[in-house]
Amino acid sequence: MADRYLSFTGTAPGRFLTRRLGLPQPAELHRWSAEQPRLRGELLHLTAGRSTLALSPVLARTGLTPGSARPAAVVLDATGVADVGALDGVHAALHPVVRSVVPSGRVLVLGAPLDPEDHHQCAAQQALEGFTRSLGKEIGRGRTVNLLRLGDAAAAESTLRFLLSPRSAYVSGQVIEVGSGTVTAPADWDEPLAGRTALVTGAARGIGEAVAGTLARDGARVVVLDVPAAEADARRVAERIGGTALALDVTAADAGERIAAALPGGLDVLVHNAGITRDRRLVNMPADRWGPVLEVNLGSVLRTTDDLLARGVLRPGGRIVATASIAGLAGNAGQTNYGAGKAGIVGLVRSLAPRALAGHGVTVNAVAPGFIETRMTAAVPLLIREAGRRMNSLAQGGLPADVAETTAWLAHPASGTVNGQVVRVCGQSLLGA
Ligand SMILES: NC(=O)c1ccc[n+]([C@@H]2O[C@H](COP(=O)([O-])OP(=O)(O)OC[C@H]3O[C@@H](n4cnc5c(N)ncnc54)[C@H](O)[C@@H]3O)[C@@H](O)[C@H]2O)c1
Repeated sequence: MADRYLSFTGTAPGRFLTRRLGLPQPAELHRWSAEQPRLRGELLHLTAGRSTLALSPVLARTGLTPGSARPAAVVLDATGVADVGALDGVHAALHPVVRSVVPSGRVLVLGAPLDPEDHHQCAAQQALEGFTRSLGKEIGRGRTVNLLRLGDAAAAESTLRFLLSPRSAYVSGQVIEVGSGTVTAPADWDEPLAGRTALVTGAARGIGEAVAGTLARDGARVVVLDVPAAEADARRVAERIGGTALALDVTAADAGERIAAALPGGLDVLVHNAGITRDRRLVNMPADRWGPVLEVNLGSVLRTTDDLLARGVLRPGGRIVATASIAGLAGNAGQTNYGAGKAGIVGLVRSLAPRALAGHGVTVNAVAPGFIETRMTAAVPLLIREAGRRMNSLAQGGLPADVAETTAWLAHPASGTVNGQVVRVCGQSLLGA
């Protein structure tokens, strides 16, 4: 499962040879670790157009030192770009500095919410999206480029901290919208989930295991749910992270009831991660390869969500994070069942998010992983696996930790203004927008 090509291009002869042959140049990504929790370099704050965003105090709290010599993060405040002429300011700000951004650094463009009454503002702000995605595809060296649309910097603090940290190493080419409103800052930003309870489905291995570990690192008491056949693994994970295991098939008719019974004190974070594949082209797909995929990946997610909301198990301030996939956004040959189920997750999130927030004080978002190095992708035939790894701007697969960090940001108590978002964790995959 190890990415030998990435190791090879990390050596001098490997780099020389692959460059000569014009092959992809993945760079070792700087991910979060307790020893290196911050980006390695300075923060450069630039502005295009006339901004009214009170950004500086929030940026100061990221812990990055302001400077321009070796920027690890360039933040371009383009919220004031309201007409085509003002886009020149985007070029003028970034053209001179983009080369100096350190490997695994960040370019973060800040845009304003689209104003439906002003087509000039919409054109200019939408232009930022094409700009961001294009720069993401050319910047290289493990650097990421994202667009954050926001109206209020304080309400976006958890998002700014996430995007300007090693936690977002595999998130690139994304457009994220954050609303306005009052947010609850945690007492300790290093343990934001202290005192909270989280439940992660399919957490005995793979991405779910990483999500459970990351939420526990952030202070949550975690319930590790998986099928009865994986109970021993679920127990091992729970023991390691100081949580508890729950052996349960999420498709069971009484799944909601049993989850509620296991959580008498209520739940703050619900992560729908359990998922299966049963790949076949539609012409060769019998009904018994279709039904279970829709049932595990979508039907059970809808049922348990409805049930836990109706029972009041999810407390106000709660967070639901569901797992989509780029296969649900772009489609994938051999995955009509899986693509349908994962696209259904997007529909669920977009529809439920505003109502769940208004009615229960709960946000609903999704992560959409691209190619992530797990047992699921290790089973993919070699050539398709190698193509999956390289067909993204970072030219490598993501790790379960990348999806876990994104989930932890969405689960954060200060992320109450992030709602209805589908955030791809795909290294800016070439599949889909
Ligand atoms: N690995 C990737 O590249 C990738 C890409 C996109 C999306 N995803 C999604 O991410 C999630 C996790 O993927 P992974 O690669 O870690 O998969 P995985 O197969 O390694 O782990 C999935 C876990 O879910 C559990 N599970 C399956 N059916 C269940 C059920 N009915 N009830 C309870 N638990 C059940 C399994 O026992 C397993 O422990 C899935 O939803 C998957 O579709 C993965």
